[in-house]
Amino acid sequence: MNQPVVGFAICGSFCTYDAVFRALEDVKKHFENIVPIMSPYSASTDTRFGKAKDFTARLKELCGREIITTIEGAEPIGPKKLLDLLVIAPCTGNTLAKLAQGITDTPVAMAYKAHLRNSRPVLIAVSSNDALSANAHNLGVLLDRKNNYFVPFRQDDPVHKPCSLVADFSLLPEAMEAALRGEQLQPLLRLA
Ligand SMILES: Cc1cc2nc3c(=O)[nH]c(=O)nc-3n(C[C@H](O)[C@H](O)[C@H](O)COP(=O)(O)O)c2cc1C
Repeated sequence: MNQPVVGFAICGSFCTYDAVFRALEDVKKHFENIVPIMSPYSASTDTRFGKAKDFTARLKELCGREIITTIEGAEPIGPKKLLDLLVIAPCTGNTLAKLAQGITDTPVAMAYKAHLRNSRPVLIAVSSNDALSANAHNLGVLLDRKNNYFVPFRQDDPVHKPCSLVADFSLLPEAMEAALRGEQLQPLLRLA
């Protein structure tokens, strides 16, 4: 495949945006065609990690396209087979649960459902404080789902946040290449 079209969906794990945007700059060197998608919460919420308008402007500029921020905007991904790969980075516990349980009430979940119907790969970069508690079941469901791949992750603070997992975003380009080949980048579990 020469120039795969990649959907890059961002959810509301705001503390990871610095690492995610740095990784995205690296991703852009390997993948020219990136279609940006944001969850409504991530596209509209100002936090101590930065302002929504700055993140949306940066994403738009990096990708050179408008951001998909609605369910109707994401829906054509299915029938028009718009993407070769869908990346969800960061993926919150909230979105992880929706994907695992078939809930489709955000543009990110719609993109996932639409894209998976074409039997094409999805790459998930999880970042959630409850990945090893309330969301452990959902993580397990997705680990076992066809065409779902994960950016390798680790416990980011086992002492103070024993149930938290965070993907190593610097591995995104490598994990994307692997997912496009239908492979899970290994080792999946990285040491803290
Ligand atoms: C400052 C801040 C940081 C957050 N960080 C995370 C996080 O790292 N992981 C996570 O799963 N949720 C985090 N959340 C909660 C999500 O933003 C919230 O569950 C939201 O509904 C996610 O929506 P989305 O999955 O559609 O983006 C954070 C919320 C705030 C305000």
